[in-house]
Amino acid sequence: EKGGYPDFMLKEICEQPRVVRDTLVGRLAPTGELDIDELGLSFEELNLIDRVYVIACGTSYHAGLIAKNLIEGWARIPCEVEAASEFRYRNPIITPTTLVVAVSQSGETADTLAAIRDARIKGGKVFGITNVVGSPVARESDGVIYTKANKEIAVASTKSFIGQIVSLSLLSLLLAQAKGKLKTGQVKMLFHELGDTAAQIQHILDTQGPAIHEAALACKDAASALFVGRGMGTAISYEGALKLKEVSYLHAEAYAAGEMKHGPIALIDPGFPVIAVATKSPTYDKVVSNLKECEARGATIIALATEGDEDIAKIAGHIISIPPVRDCFSAITASVPLQLLAREVALMRGCNVDQPRNLAKSVTVE
Ligand code: F6R
Repeated sequence: EKGGYPDFMLKEICEQPRVVRDTLVGRLAPTGELDIDELGLSFEELNLIDRVYVIACGTSYHAGLIAKNLIEGWARIPCEVEAASEFRYRNPIITPTTLVVAVSQSGETADTLAAIRDARIKGGKVFGITNVVGSPVARESDGVIYTKANKEIAVASTKSFIGQIVSLSLLSLLLAQAKGKLKTGQVKMLFHELGDTAAQIQHILDTQGPAIHEAALACKDAASALFVGRGMGTAISYEGALKLKEVSYLHAEAYAAGEMKHGPIALIDPGFPVIAVATKSPTYDKVVSNLKECEARGATIIALATEGDEDIAKIAGHIISIPPVRDCFSAITASVPLQLLAREVALMRGCNVDQPRNLAKSVTVE
């Protein structure tokens, strides 16, 4: 059942190139129009959307943080991302032109369902993004995009997270097209680059094992670790920290790198692991200067860097290389080595990577 892999977590991480390809199959018509019929809203209706909330829990919430960058960046629609457990107990502003996007792998998370029900009562349109056909989230939403991850068995989400990011990227492109913010040619180009991430993930899987193993050795005995980045890198850091803590029980926190000097830098002492998303992006130089400050205090820096970046080697003790990719798609590639890092650290610490303590695969009670 594990297909020759030692655990489901690794099997599912290795399936991610396929998930990207399957989630995109048949989505772009030759005319350049995106084909997402299941959304159930016309272009005209999409054009009226003036506010988006992404609601979700855990890893799915992190996919939402990534989507915020895409929805605001491409479609120029204000977007908020909120934990479903918070959203359901306040009084969010929802009108008939509000789109609520509920992201849930299992499609049965109690808080996410409650938030959907609340949003619909208030008159909002609800789209579900789920991995389970016919699940409550799918049934109770106005429209749905299915991620094509197939069944995910390991408790920690990996391949469904990648499927969620790809689906949310499609939704963001569709909104941008409906709003007239991206031209057909741009949508086509971005769609193809989104598809290219399948091969880029494969390349990371094929080449970065030894570097990730070394990085895991460098942080496995730490009491705590910090993940930092900026922009997309911040969202990637949140997910990296969650993955590490849930499977290895090593305490980890994520911070926007620019926030370091407002408090967390006090944590840094010699050997403290700082895992940085330092791939080439509009804020690369800023991230590098934050890392220099950590290095000066003796931190052990593990950097996710763009292939061929030689400057970063002067600061970071460990480098995990990522193929060059447009910033908007960097979460798809950069998240993969962080999943592998979490797994390696967990195995080194004797943890069961498929079944971490205290966690359930779906959280159907509050
Ligand atoms: C972490 C993880 C959880 C889930 C969360 C939401 O690896 O799997 O944080 O992401 O419980 O679950 P779904 O997406 O099923 O609503």
